[in-house]
Amino acid sequence: MKRLFIKTYGCQMNVYDSARMADLLAPLGFTATDTPDDADMVILNTCHIREKAAEKVYSELGKLKLLKQARAADGGRLIVAVAGCVAQAEGAEIIARQPAVDIVVGPQSYQRLPEMIARVSRGTGHALETDFPAQDKFDSLPAHTAHGAPTAFLTVQEGCDKFCTFCVVPYTRGAEFSRPVAQVIAEAKTLVDSGAREITLLGQNVNAYRGTGPDGKAWSLAKLVKALATIDHLQRLRYVTSHPRDMTDDLIAAHRDIPILMPYLHLPVQAGSDTILAAMNRGHTAADYLKLVERIRAARPDIALSGDFIVGFPGETDADFAATLDLICAVNYAGAYSFKYSARPGTPAAASARQVPEEVKDARLAELQGLLTAQQKAFNASCVGHTFPVLFEHPGRKAGQAVGRSPYLQSVHVEDALPLTGTIAQVRIEAVLSNSLKGVLVSQGTREKALAN
Ligand code: SAH
Ligand code: SF4
Ligand code: F3S
Repeated sequence: MKRLFIKTYGCQMNVYDSARMADLLAPLGFTATDTPDDADMVILNTCHIREKAAEKVYSELGKLKLLKQARAADGGRLIVAVAGCVAQAEGAEIIARQPAVDIVVGPQSYQRLPEMIARVSRGTGHALETDFPAQDKFDSLPAHTAHGAPTAFLTVQEGCDKFCTFCVVPYTRGAEFSRPVAQVIAEAKTLVDSGAREITLLGQNVNAYRGTGPDGKAWSLAKLVKALATIDHLQRLRYVTSHPRDMTDDLIAAHRDIPILMPYLHLPVQAGSDTILAAMNRGHTAADYLKLVERIRAARPDIALSGDFIVGFPGETDADFAATLDLICAVNYAGAYSFKYSARPGTPAAASARQVPEEVKDARLAELQGLLTAQQKAFNASCVGHTFPVLFEHPGRKAGQAVGRSPYLQSVHVEDALPLTGTIAQVRIEAVLSNSLKGVLVSQGTREKALAN
């Protein structure tokens, strides 16, 4: 038996890929461990989105080098692999910078890990694979081993053709590719059979999904969601991340018509100034986005929205930044992620001569986050007194606690509960804590019904 430690950075698609790499290596005798100290193999599944994310990898590799040397001194062997978007972006440079790395494998080539491990184990050389055979990858991976968790991720789409001028994803993940409908449905059924009650469909541009259906035609995400919604015992569907340009009428209608599609949508806009949106190559204006939000809310009035924002994009003036704050006020977000612009090698914006000074970025980020946090708090406070279905995911830290999520993706906990993991129960929200909501089960009946399901 060999031990495998995988450390995951970045987005949910990396979380999904890490799980699939573990599935792939299980037949080779690798079982998961939660520390590199006793591992025979370590995989860093990396993210290249901002400079800090990429730099973290090198400091981690420095530590692994020492561990590898100590292991060799004891006559043992530690294999070090770098996977994910840094692997794709930097390739052989990683080995030049840190020779302790044995394997570099891009996000579209990790189905080749078994042969790469075999190659490395035989000799002392390195193995490098950074091709883009996305189709190959899903065809040659073993079936997804579901672990019985109530919530699961399922990648349905990969890559990006949008080429926002700040972003590395089109280079690290390649062109847009959608998995065929039948493959997605089969994987969803496996997950549900093993206990998943909520599935989050993943894609760098998930709403650009155009997978081939059983009828030979390209299916939209809305059509896929409709088909998945008929799977017995699947109670919730979500999808992430969407681009405003791909928010089609049929997908908006799906939010009105499909009850298990949760009323929560992550719809990044990045900025509120039309000048900056154009320079980012986002392909829409602030007014387009606001109109879209209006149409989505008309279809599903209780929908909660979240977004991503970048401050300090090259050339961003005080007036541009003020337009972002205005847009945030107009939308009123339930949650959001926000970042300082980070110049990424090879992207068009990195070459701009109009970079914004770091201290200006800091001040803008603080102001933006102040506003977004206030909106999130107000949204959470507005939930107090309401009753929601909560999908319980795990027991809490204290005895008798159960923790789950509301339809709006808020973390909710109840006290004095019987084990509720994997069930949905009605919960009345009583208080807002710093990162979660506290509630009570509305009736014994609900609890019994939940447990019976
Ligand atoms: N495909 C998604 C998100 C991709 S990356 C989309 O189009 O929205 C996640 C987020 O990271 C982006 O939405 C953006 O806000 C942020 N991001 C991407 N590149 C960045 C950069 N160079 N600097 C700072 N933030 C960045
Ligand atoms: Fe990056 Fe833009 Fe593609 Fe999103 S849509 S992954 S931000 S290039
Ligand atoms: Fe990072 Fe790659 Fe995801 S750059 S955000 S891990 S697609």
